[in-house]
Amino acid sequence: MTTQPKPTIGVFDSGLGGLSVLGALAAECPSANLIYAADTAHVPYGNKTPDQIRARVLAMGQALINQGCTTLVVACNTATAEAIEALRATHPNIPIVGVEPGIKPAALNTQTGKIAVLATAATAKSQRLAQLIARHAPHRVVHVIPCHGWATEVEALNLEAPTIIAEAREKLLPLIDAGVDQVVLGCTHYDFLAPTLSRLIGGKAQLVGVAGAVARQACKVSGCDSLTGNGTIRLMSTMNPVRLPHTLSALGLGDLVESLAGPPQSLAAD
Ligand code: DGL
Repeated sequence: MTTQPKPTIGVFDSGLGGLSVLGALAAECPSANLIYAADTAHVPYGNKTPDQIRARVLAMGQALINQGCTTLVVACNTATAEAIEALRATHPNIPIVGVEPGIKPAALNTQTGKIAVLATAATAKSQRLAQLIARHAPHRVVHVIPCHGWATEVEALNLEAPTIIAEAREKLLPLIDAGVDQVVLGCTHYDFLAPTLSRLIGGKAQLVGVAGAVARQACKVSGCDSLTGNGTIRLMSTMNPVRLPHTLSALGLGDLVESLAGPPQSLAAD
């Protein structure tokens, strides 16, 4: 009898943001072998052109397939918006799961009909976000707020950065005072800002993230048996990989350290 090789799910982002999806995936699908790849040499994606983002996504996807990944998770709203179609067209036989802002759950849960979406500049002006809003929230008022520099602060582990707090006070709080009751975290980095944003919002609106839903979908399409444990995690980065294990603890994902298969490695993705 031949044994099937264990599925390996490759999760990537421009940097640390996709670790929010990795954490959810490790919980959802403990039997899977996971590889997390941060494209730290090119972070942030959010201020790049669509062509530049597409080039990075294709390079990262190929690099992860070269590492043996049998399923890919594009753990980045910006990369999904600009490049998931190109990635799927390049690898038609690999299941590829993306991350999109939770417009649908926000539209279902809002009591006031008013939603705010926090996103990178690239996601904010993407056609894909406009289509998502038209499809799932046609009768809702949706305010899209481009959040310049927030992902870079998360990369530096400045989760309470004064610039973030000031911008949220200036742009988000007036919308909440005007009735917005759902705040969509439209960038995977922003999941790590949830405690800071919750404190500012003070219960007047709900934060909407999608890491759990993405993890469930990735687990399903990867063919993993989600009920049994012992999957391993490998961490890789296009720059300064040694920093990654430390960031896990700093971002509240210290539990994952015991699943690490070895020291973090460099990923060549050009
Ligand atoms: N984490 C990414 C996202 O979900 C992008 C952050 C960035 O590199 O600008 O959009």
